[in-house]
Amino acid sequence: MSQPEPAPAPRTASYEADPAEVGRVLLLYSGGLDTSVMLKWIQERYGAEVVALSVDLGQPGEDWDVVRDKARRLGAVECHVVDAREQFAREFVLPAIKANAVYGGGYPLFTALGRPLIARLAVEQARASGCDTIAHGCTGKGNDQVRIEATVATLAPELRLLAPVRDWRMGREEEIAYAREHGIAIKGGSEVAPYSIDDNLWGRSSEGRWIEALDQPPQDDVFGLVTPPQDAPDEPQDVAVTFERGVPVALDGQRLGLVELLERAAELGARHGVGIVDHVEDRIVGLKVRDIYEVPAAAILLSAHQELERLVCTIHQNQFKPGLDRQWAYLVYAGLWWEPLRDDLDAYMDRVNQQVTGTVNVRLYKGSTRVVARESPNAIYDPELATFGESGGLFSQHAAPGFIELWSLQSRMAHRLRAERRDGDAG
Ligand code: ARG
Repeated sequence: MSQPEPAPAPRTASYEADPAEVGRVLLLYSGGLDTSVMLKWIQERYGAEVVALSVDLGQPGEDWDVVRDKARRLGAVECHVVDAREQFAREFVLPAIKANAVYGGGYPLFTALGRPLIARLAVEQARASGCDTIAHGCTGKGNDQVRIEATVATLAPELRLLAPVRDWRMGREEEIAYAREHGIAIKGGSEVAPYSIDDNLWGRSSEGRWIEALDQPPQDDVFGLVTPPQDAPDEPQDVAVTFERGVPVALDGQRLGLVELLERAAELGARHGVGIVDHVEDRIVGLKVRDIYEVPAAAILLSAHQELERLVCTIHQNQFKPGLDRQWAYLVYAGLWWEPLRDDLDAYMDRVNQQVTGTVNVRLYKGSTRVVARESPNAIYDPELATFGESGGLFSQHAAPGFIELWSLQSRMAHRLRAERRDGDAG
């Protein structure tokens, strides 16, 4: 069987590769069907050499030796696996925690945070290996192509990009046929189309199959990380999360490195079924698409962080920051990690987080997380003042009526004016 001829795709962006000038390609290789077919296809179609790069961001259960061997067998001239977990946790997840980063009311951005790092590592490896082009496995319908290509075009204007899935016009059937013809092993067999999965140490997403039917409730076989809540332990468990200047540093009093802490939190949350998010999302390319997310670590750490931040901030900071948090999440979701505004916002996030020190206890129980206790040396809280009893001293209840009179002055005047006008119109 001959491979389908790719349509002569017109180049619309300056960074897209010119087929005549593809010499050596850095391929972002996952070991899955698309990028395995791609590894062969690029060699055949362009007569180019392929350098494979796989990036470990803490995808649970991935065997990187198997991935590396597969790339080698498919003809890659170099096969690199980079353990980027520490970088990912420090430079990407940590700022997200400080920004309480959630997009669209439920998505903690694990994929969106991973892509700019993956693309930056691709740029570094492409330069080191003398590649002229970077290839990736994204489709033309998703956000990931935006994140990867925006990153490469920003950091390495001299490199060109290739996104074969966007224009090779192979469906799954044709890809499987191509794989068979070229002796490419298909992980998990070829009978049922699998969910489309992406994961790292901050979460896991599933797309496709019944998930595309918005009226279908989640089937339990989608969960690869989190225990279905009905099967979670009958006893609740409290976990104490300690932060220093916005950085989570300990769980239940035990100090842990960031990667280990994120992994421990994910395990705890997964055991109790927490962090399942059924999310219909506004993609940056215009589509609405549904994802099933499993984000056990984020469910625990974001709620703990947010609670502590609110405790140490004033009412004015607490009114202001969520708007910046939302802007931060939107920029990152939208693939603009390198936008200077994100840097500007981070300066604010860091500044506020200087105060975010203390411990929050989160109760995990059959799919729910609930903050049950908090303490901080920086809490803007005084039990003496907050109590219902007469406190005197700093807080005088006798001052309250005067405050209320002035505080409500403009609202009362406006209300009266509107009422008079309405009565005048009616009369
Ligand atoms: N909807 C999420 C996002 O746009 C997750 C995407 C998952 N990516 C994937 N290639 N399966 O960030």
